[in-house]
Amino acid sequence: MSFPKNFYWGGATAANQCEGGWNEGGRGPAKTDVTTGGSAKKSRGITYRMPDGTEGMVGGFSRIPEGASYAVLDGYYYPNHKAIDFYHHYKEDIALFAEMGFKMFRMSISWSRIFPKGIEEEPNREGIEFYRNVFTELRKYDIEPLVTMCHYDTPLYLEEVLGGWTNRQLVDAFEKYAKVIFEEYKGLVRYWLTFNEINSQLMMKNFVPNAPKQMLENAYAGLHNQFVASARAVKFAHEQYPEYVVGCMIAGMTTYPLTCDPQDVLRAQHKMQEDFYYSGDVMIRGHYPVFAKRMWREDGVSFEVPEEDLEILKEGRADFFSFSYYSTSCETTHTDAPKDGAGNLVLGYKNPYIQYSDWGWGMDADGLRYILNEIYGRYQVPIMIVENGLGAIDTVEADGSIHDDYRIAYLKDHVRAMSEAIDDGVELIAFTPWGCIDLVSASTGEMRKRYGFIYVDMDDDGNGSMERSRKDSFYWYKKVIASNGEELE
Ligand code: BG6
Repeated sequence: MSFPKNFYWGGATAANQCEGGWNEGGRGPAKTDVTTGGSAKKSRGITYRMPDGTEGMVGGFSRIPEGASYAVLDGYYYPNHKAIDFYHHYKEDIALFAEMGFKMFRMSISWSRIFPKGIEEEPNREGIEFYRNVFTELRKYDIEPLVTMCHYDTPLYLEEVLGGWTNRQLVDAFEKYAKVIFEEYKGLVRYWLTFNEINSQLMMKNFVPNAPKQMLENAYAGLHNQFVASARAVKFAHEQYPEYVVGCMIAGMTTYPLTCDPQDVLRAQHKMQEDFYYSGDVMIRGHYPVFAKRMWREDGVSFEVPEEDLEILKEGRADFFSFSYYSTSCETTHTDAPKDGAGNLVLGYKNPYIQYSDWGWGMDADGLRYILNEIYGRYQVPIMIVENGLGAIDTVEADGSIHDDYRIAYLKDHVRAMSEAIDDGVELIAFTPWGCIDLVSASTGEMRKRYGFIYVDMDDDGNGSMERSRKDSFYWYKKVIASNGEELE
């Protein structure tokens, strides 16, 4: 086994899915706070109120009706409001991470805890102090924080009143937020990620067939503004804080050709370009890829990169590549093949050679080795896997134990694949599996889709004691970390 001596073993979470305390400590709302619970079969909804008091909910990618305002309504359950209450449990949770031997903890700052609307002159001191306390607690155990600056929770005001990421004012708002947190957490944080799964902005191409032209125009323009916001933050960090290391974060959608029909191979290549390299190239190489113009043309959008942004994209190149990896998918021109119907942000064809999770996500450890080699071959910068894991239903036995051997098996295969990739020459420096402590699922809002080494007594309807307990995988991961990836059995 070949993990480097200082390899960062750890775990990952996001504020909106674990913190709770949604209206405490001066925090402002984010879209996740008006998003209801759902399930694998029933998509989550977004609630609103009309000026005449009529209330309602829309699902998926639909917009709330013209004139409506986002609203928290009686009679709906919003799982992110309480989540797992990390806001009040962080000391206990960090002690458990330390017990497992974590070297790194990926978490996010809730932007609206620092700037409740996103536009204030001064930051919310209570929010600043909350994260200072969390980082200080991590440092107490020598755990390196890896901080995502925006994990799917742009302040609601910026979305609703300023119209979201197509509005250039959000770039300035993000830059200001970045400058404040960079300055406040000097000496406590070294590793930063700007936007979580930035490439997910284009995912509606997978989920909304024949998306209206305006929707596509907005997606490209909004994503571009996030690239610029990220680049400005990276540039500022490099100029002011030479010790800071700032990475990009890309959803690791990996697509294979379903058959060796050259048409399938081309289609899979095209998919990888759109889903993955489009964003990776801008953030690591500092410019749009050669195939971008063709994408815009084929999607019928008039998007063009503003001349004045070319320089900033070049100057704000990220220092390392990070990505989430759960599953792989296939593409084909033989459309009678069965579709996956699921997977992290993709909708591809079913791969007959791999197994599928209860939520229909393809489990493919070899695919991790494959994509690690692809990424490193293309970019040659250090890589972090900042999300990976198996969402599954856990059973608590009468004595309180939780035998999650399926999770151990999944992670074991992926750790092996990582070690092979390192032997291949890939510079992999960190592994922070997702939801190291159970948290609210982003896609479904469920608690029952659990990823953790630590179980949290909380159900899909908000019932539970919030008590934490160790699963079998907790002890397994502890051994893996202590042996630096050598002991996997
Ligand atoms: C990633 C997100 O897409 O996948 C996380 O960055 C999310 O926020 C994770 O939780 C797993 O997805 P899910 O839907 O199972 O929670």
